[in-house]
Amino acid sequence: MKPVTLTTLREMKQRGEKIACLTAYDASFAAALDAAGVDLIMVGDSLGMVVQGHDSTLPVTLADMIYHTRCVRRGSQRAFIVTDLPFMSYASSAQALGNAARLMQEGGAHMVKLEGGAWLADTVHELTQRGMPVCAHLGLLPQSVHQLGGYRVQGRDVSSAQTLLSDARALEQAGAGLLVLECVPDTLAQQITQALKLPVIGIGAGAHCDGQVLVLHDVLGLTPKPPKFSKNFLHDAADIPSAARAYVSAVKAGEFPAPEHSFQ
Ligand code: KIV
Repeated sequence: MKPVTLTTLREMKQRGEKIACLTAYDASFAAALDAAGVDLIMVGDSLGMVVQGHDSTLPVTLADMIYHTRCVRRGSQRAFIVTDLPFMSYASSAQALGNAARLMQEGGAHMVKLEGGAWLADTVHELTQRGMPVCAHLGLLPQSVHQLGGYRVQGRDVSSAQTLLSDARALEQAGAGLLVLECVPDTLAQQITQALKLPVIGIGAGAHCDGQVLVLHDVLGLTPKPPKFSKNFLHDAADIPSAARAYVSAVKAGEFPAPEHSFQ
């Protein structure tokens, strides 16, 4: 199996092949997702909620992220691995440099992800100049849940939609190699995806993004109140590997997300 790289993902965008991503936090699930053909595994700080039982991602530490990334790396042979820099671990560029280096060197991440807009452009530039690839994350930013006043769809009015588009452009310009767009209206996600050369991975951002990501526990029906944009793929599958394969084929075929998983 040829490992997926950032170049692979860029080429997939260019030829219009959808990128299938899921989160994973340990070696067994990473191996199952890898075998199912998942292109990109996110070691998300969502682990704070689905693994550690917290009510937000804020308590997750850098040590937690390093530990779970190491586990995922051991299980995965093919997928590109993107790990979240946790809450307040990239408040300054200097802090981001040291912490991203640890995620890559000690954890084995291929890329780091950080949440926020144009204010992060200098940090993204500094990281990428030093060989640390960056995935930006815009729209609903779970680490800013208290600032945002809850888990809500973002970019619904003209001014916030324009800010999201200009943030996306600024982060690409600064060197970001991927963008996660979370909980934004379908048409805005389409506009941002078309405006950028980098691959855009949506979660609750409609069908027009270059790829899709979901939290593994939502896909496996383990979340008591799953978000509208997710789907339980285990419901119609015989086992977890079949559910992961069904997710990959639905994303590749453009069948997921359907209109009922998207926001207008
Ligand atoms: O924390 C996470 O798992 C994430 C992805 C779902 C985008 O940020």
